[in-house]
Amino acid sequence: MTAELKRRVLVTGGAGFLGCHLVRRLATAGWVVTVLDDYSSPSPLADDLPATIVVGSVVAPPPLPGPFDLICHLASPASPPRYLLDPVGTLRTGAEGMRQVLDLAAEWGAHVLFTSTSEVYGDPEVNPQPESYVGAVDVQGPRACYDEGKRYAEALVYAYRRAGLHDRSTVVRLFNTYGPGMHPDDGRVVTAFLGAALAGQPLPIFGDGSQTRSFCYVDDVIDGLMRLLPGEFPGPVNIGNDVEVSMLELADAVEQLIGSTGRRFLALPDGDPKVRRPELSAITELTGWKATTDLATGLSKTIAYLRELT
Ligand SMILES: NC(=O)c1ccc[n+]([C@@H]2O[C@H](COP(=O)([O-])OP(=O)(O)OC[C@H]3O[C@@H](n4cnc5c(N)ncnc54)[C@H](O)[C@@H]3O)[C@@H](O)[C@H]2O)c1
Repeated sequence: MTAELKRRVLVTGGAGFLGCHLVRRLATAGWVVTVLDDYSSPSPLADDLPATIVVGSVVAPPPLPGPFDLICHLASPASPPRYLLDPVGTLRTGAEGMRQVLDLAAEWGAHVLFTSTSEVYGDPEVNPQPESYVGAVDVQGPRACYDEGKRYAEALVYAYRRAGLHDRSTVVRLFNTYGPGMHPDDGRVVTAFLGAALAGQPLPIFGDGSQTRSFCYVDDVIDGLMRLLPGEFPGPVNIGNDVEVSMLELADAVEQLIGSTGRRFLALPDGDPKVRRPELSAITELTGWKATTDLATGLSKTIAYLRELT
């Protein structure tokens, strides 16, 4: 961290899954942390955060104890069942939330670390996805509220930069992340499989299970984010694990750890991407970062966490 960058950070969405981990890592690294969160989807690990908590929406922020040197902007509905519940609110958080963050950052002279998503690549025609890939998002599809909200937010960052309004942002595109702190019923595939297996229920597999994802353990992702601070690199930059697995392979991995409880095959949701894998040379060349936690180890830690919750 450079000497001129002081250590006051605002983390929007700091009570969420990734937010809780990031807040604790920032506090350990000496940052004085304030969280802004509306508590629409807090993590079970959100108690006793080492931070000042401000409850409110990033869309219309309440008074904040600024100025801050850094804003880590994570606030957004993030799991498909949650963002599909309120598509308009999801778009507003993506768009209006980002505008609020950039205006505050411009006022305070703060750097912004924005967690965008691999969903900006939509249902990609290239695999793996480099940052230069422009994406294939269906604007009419149900997932567009999340994907296009994030795309708008990114576009706003680049527009503020071009217009000379704010030019100290790092855009990070996170790929599927899992681990302790996930809400057990957030509907993401890792918790859906583990929750079913632990309850002795069949694993719910969408489609024929051949679609792929690349799952990155949360500690690795937080390590990648921390390495991007203080944030001289504008991005966009991918962070994820480039080991790609099909949903059937994920089911195999879960069964190896918990035992077989059967599988039930469900209709593939509209717009479900067929493949997802990050191209990682930018983050590796920039920071030397690489994910180090293999799937079996990460799943074991997540299973221990879920067992403790019940
Ligand atoms: N976890 C992943 O796999 C993943 C992948 C790609 C991108 N991301 C991005 O990372 C960020 C964090 O994701 P997460 O997995 O921790 O999700 P999460 O749902 O666990 O956390 C999001 C947090 O934001 C809060 N929030 C939502 N809308 C808000 C609003 N309008 N104002 C204030 N707070 C609000 C929620 O209460 C929650 O605490 C999100 O921006 C998400 O899009 C996550």
